[in-house]
Parts: sequence; C-alpha cells; structure tokens
Amino acid sequence: MKARRSVLVASLLVVGAALPASAPVAASGGEHRRSPAIDQPLREHGQRVGLRIGTAVDMAAFNNDTEYRNRIAVEFSAVTAENVMKWGELERVQGQPDYTLADQLVASARANRQKVHGHTLLWHNQLPQWLTDGVTSGDIDAAELRALLRKHIFEVAGHFRGKIWHWDVVNEVIDDSGNLRDTIFLRLLGPGYIADAFRWAHQADPHAELYLNDYNLEFPGAKSDAYYALVQQLLAQRVPVDGLGAQGHLGIQFGLPSTLDTYNNLRRFELLGLEISFTEVDIRMILPTDQYRTQAQAQGFSGLLTACLLLERCEMFTFWGFTDKYNWVPGFFTDPPEGDATMLNEDFTPKPAYREMQAILALAA
Ligand code: XIL
Repeated sequence: MKARRSVLVASLLVVGAALPASAPVAASGGEHRRSPAIDQPLREHGQRVGLRIGTAVDMAAFNNDTEYRNRIAVEFSAVTAENVMKWGELERVQGQPDYTLADQLVASARANRQKVHGHTLLWHNQLPQWLTDGVTSGDIDAAELRALLRKHIFEVAGHFRGKIWHWDVVNEVIDDSGNLRDTIFLRLLGPGYIADAFRWAHQADPHAELYLNDYNLEFPGAKSDAYYALVQQLLAQRVPVDGLGAQGHLGIQFGLPSTLDTYNNLRRFELLGLEISFTEVDIRMILPTDQYRTQAQAQGFSGLLTACLLLERCEMFTFWGFTDKYNWVPGFFTDPPEGDATMLNEDFTPKPAYREMQAILALAA
C-alpha cells in the first residue's frame, strides 16, 4: 500500500478549494509533485491510497435501474446493504429467513471485487414485527429474547461466513446523552447483551471484523465519551471488538464539525486499538437547496474524508447512497423538508461534493 497520509491533505483542508484537473501540486521544499488525473472513479483514487470507497445499496433500485447498478460497480470498492441485511427484512416470518436480496448483493460484490460491510446484526429499529409484538405482549420474555438474539446472530453471521469484511454487530446502542439506549434489549437483557452479541458474532464468523456503529461520533461530546468508556470496558473484558463505525449523517443546518475535531475524536479510538470506518456518510440540508448550501455540503464531505485520510487505520469511507434519485432523507426528515444529501444529482451528474472527493483523494496519493 502506498503511503497515503500526505500532509498535503491538511493543506487542502486549509485552502478548502478544489484543484483544476491538471494543476501540479506544490510540495514543501520548493519541489513539485503531480497528483494523478482527478477525473477518475472514486474507487480507483481510493485504491491508490489504501482506502475502500463504499456506498449503501438500495436493492429495489439495484434491480430496476441499470445506470444505478453500473455506477455502483464503476465507482465503489465496498458495498453495504441499505436495508436487506436488517433483522426485520431478513426474517419477516419467524423461522423462515429469506436471504435472496442479501445474497444477490454479496454475489454482485464478489463479481465486482467489492468488499461487503455487514449492516447490521443488532439494531432497535427495523426489527421483525413478530419480535416486537411478542415482547410487548409478554409472549417473549427475557430468556426467550436472549435465545432468539443468539440464534439470529449465529444464523446470519453464519450464513455469510467468510463473505463479510466487517459487521456492524451493534448499531446505535448509546443515545445522545451518553446513556445506553433504552431498547428492548437493554430492558430485558441488561447491558451485557452488547458483549454477548460480539462474542456470538465472533464464534459464527471468526474472520469478520466486528464493529460498533453510531451517528454523532464525528465530534467530541457525551455520546463519543460514552463510546470511549464502553470500548475500554469491552476490551478489558476481552470482548472481540475490532472497529468503530462513524456513520457520518450530517446536516449543514447544524453546523459542520471541523476536520480536526473529527480526527481527534476518532484518533483516540485508534489509540485504544480499534480501526475506524466512515459507514453511512451523507450531508443533508433544508430544502430548497442553493449554491451556498451545495458548497457547504461539499465542505462537509471534505472534512470527513480528510479526517479519514489523516487517521492511521481508517479502512473505509462509505456514502449512504450516492445519488439523490434514491435517498432516504426526504422520506425521513420531513418537517422541515430536507434532502439533497448525496454527491450526485438525480440524473447522476456530479455536484461540487463529488469533485471535491476526487480532488482530495488525488491529493492524498
Ligand atoms: C435507513 C435506510 O436508509 C432507510 O431506507 C430505512 O427506511 C431506515 O433506515 N442509521 C442506520 C441505517 O444505521 O440503517 C439507516 O438506514 C439510517 C440511519
């Protein structure tokens, strides 16, 4: 792997400007170095700097839209199932898991030399209805819930054994105040469910790297501190935790974290021994958009990518979708209406953010 932690990345950050496609880059000491041609697919830029560039994949779009499918193959070296590996999607009917769409994604990834980021073994959302109903009615008690969770993790991680690069073993288990999130798992099983989930996943697929994954880890705060304490505790108990996933769902209306805040906040997890991935990056805005918002979005993406490149073990930078044609934000954040969260327009033409991603990766090479 070529050294990628170019200090020049930091200078781009300060300048904050995209370079023209042919611009030579001044290096310190008065020499000049020339970056690779900028207008190349992100995965090729990423390869040069040892970074996998990923996207979430919407399997309905994948099966209906050839251009969408082709762009995934050309542009990305890692994929995440946007929905089809979640418990509620896999096991709508209890005891009858359906892996059709998830297997299709894994097969396509293999054909296109892409790694698969597994998302997710345990989350409080998108659970099977039979499970949540059973807990609410009392039909599923604590012992039963623990047995069902164990079975789920063994079955799913076992099904994909050897095919998953990293698993988000637990997703969003700490709330924004820094407390363990109040979920059916915490309420019925107690805090030990997190360590259990990692141990079961490791037994089911010993070679997959195992992640904690959450949003609002791109800056310091109570939530990040709580994760830091949790990771220390898990490692002290010899729980097989390998990585931290910073989702990277940002909104320009909240202000964007500085690259240094993002870097410092994630660097401390590296120093505990974890690797880092950005797992779900998108930068949304209140609609309608304008050129200033679009430019702020580009800066938001740049800041996260730059922090990733400055880190020592940032393995993957994954976008939560890459075109506004298929994106979860407008359906999810409706009051006020938000959207335009990805780096390509609905017609797949690039926004400033896409060019920034190319320029930063070229500069880091
Ligand atoms: C979202 C999907 O994008 C939507 O299609 C779905 O309706 C809801 O979930 N954090 C996560 C992801 O970990 O799984 C979520 O994905 C976005 C927030």
